[in-house]
Amino acid sequence: MSEKVVKVGLLGFGVVGQGAWKHLTQGEAGLEKLLGVRIELAKASVRDLKKTRDLSIPSEKLTTDSWEIVDDPEIDLVCELMGGINPARELTLAAIAKGKHVVTANKALICEHGAEIFQAAETSKVHYGFEASVAGGIPIIKAIRESLVANDFKLIYGILNGTSNYILTRMEKEGAPFDEVLAAATELGYVEADEALDLDGFDAAHKAVILAYLAHGIWAPEGGFPIEGIRRISTEDLQAAGKLNCKVKLIAVIRRDFETNGVALGVYPALVPMSEVIARTDGVYNGISVTGDVLGTTVLTGRGAGQDPTASSVISDVVDAVKVIRGDKPPPKLLHTHEGVCRLASPSEVEGSFYLRLTVEDKPGQLARVADTLADQGVSIATVLQSGIPERSAASIILTTHATNEHSISMAIDALESLSGVLDKPVLLRMFDPNNHSK
Ligand SMILES: NC(=O)c1ccc[n+]([C@@H]2O[C@H](COP(=O)([O-])OP(=O)(O)OC[C@H]3O[C@@H](n4cnc5c(N)ncnc54)[C@H](OP(=O)(O)O)[C@@H]3O)[C@@H](O)[C@H]2O)c1
Repeated sequence: MSEKVVKVGLLGFGVVGQGAWKHLTQGEAGLEKLLGVRIELAKASVRDLKKTRDLSIPSEKLTTDSWEIVDDPEIDLVCELMGGINPARELTLAAIAKGKHVVTANKALICEHGAEIFQAAETSKVHYGFEASVAGGIPIIKAIRESLVANDFKLIYGILNGTSNYILTRMEKEGAPFDEVLAAATELGYVEADEALDLDGFDAAHKAVILAYLAHGIWAPEGGFPIEGIRRISTEDLQAAGKLNCKVKLIAVIRRDFETNGVALGVYPALVPMSEVIARTDGVYNGISVTGDVLGTTVLTGRGAGQDPTASSVISDVVDAVKVIRGDKPPPKLLHTHEGVCRLASPSEVEGSFYLRLTVEDKPGQLARVADTLADQGVSIATVLQSGIPERSAASIILTTHATNEHSISMAIDALESLSGVLDKPVLLRMFDPNNHSK
């Protein structure tokens, strides 16, 4: 048995906390052999001591006072697995200030306060590991920061939210409506308590902001890039996408123009060509396609959430932190070496083609009026499909556009919304083109 011991405290003992505890316990002997250090699980904090938990641990190891862990001079490493902004932020900054290493799965906290926390960790020379914050068990942070360090990234895109992917996959495969599949996903415990995180794109956006910083050194502010969800997608859209040899996926896209160093960031449902691995990444799985200037393209897919996959990433960071504690290596640099080189692109710089579904009154000349309205904003039509909706005496027009920019299409949508004969708010989806690297 090793004489050296690293004491670990967990802030939070929920899904991820219990997973980390379980696998650190099960893997104790192997980790000790690997590291020459015994990892001792000292304590975990919770809100409610009376709550029934799947994993039972000695009662003296649970506390409702997280500061007991942060203030304990014997604890070297803190895993912040409670989520949310406060008190997670104060506890994290206090632990770092005391020279403790911190591991987290908290994407919301990094997205909002990453700049402050990274700076604090660098100043205190501690390890701040956040592999579990993006795509659960997929080692994307390490891939970008370490394995792909030779690359500048033209394009990083993919599925970063398993719940919305599960819903879209079932809608597509079963032809089932959104509400029915959402109810089933909620029953299975796949949907966050705040369902907007999954359905309106915010969870994926938190992760995309972290990836954009890692890849390009920019912290994208909330409201500074498009975030759209899946609530308005119908089975009709999924079928129409199939006819265009695509699948509708909620994707995060981070695309850099090397000439201007503008980075186009967005989270939205898009038609992804079937030739892409991401289009074929179904169910609760996540997938991230990374295109680097040296490597070309590589794709990572796997379980993007859940107790065990997320614990796998937490433990990877725990092991790295122990190596830092042992003095084998310095903590990895957190602040991007090229901060200030790239900037967030404006909507008029971001180009692409679009898919548009309109419900219109079934009367002569309606399609021509739609085409004229689009043309007024410089948007030209590539394909049109029209079908009747007899029960509403209406028609559905599905069209795709030639390349245009986000600003023009947004103006065109505003104009279409007030056009006479257009019955519902138009459904707009992007047509994702993996080869659109120049813009
Ligand atoms: N679940 C996933 O699949 C997953 C995947 C990737 C990342 N994450 C991230 O991992 C973090 C944890 O998620 P989770 O799913 O494990 O959440 P969870 O099941 O709700 O667990 C949160 C834990 O933190 C405790 N807690 C919350 N506020 C506290 C406070 N003020 N003081 C003391 N304890 C407090 C809770 O105590 P009680 O048990 O007493 O309520 C609970 O044990 C989040 O940042 C989440 O975004 C989760």
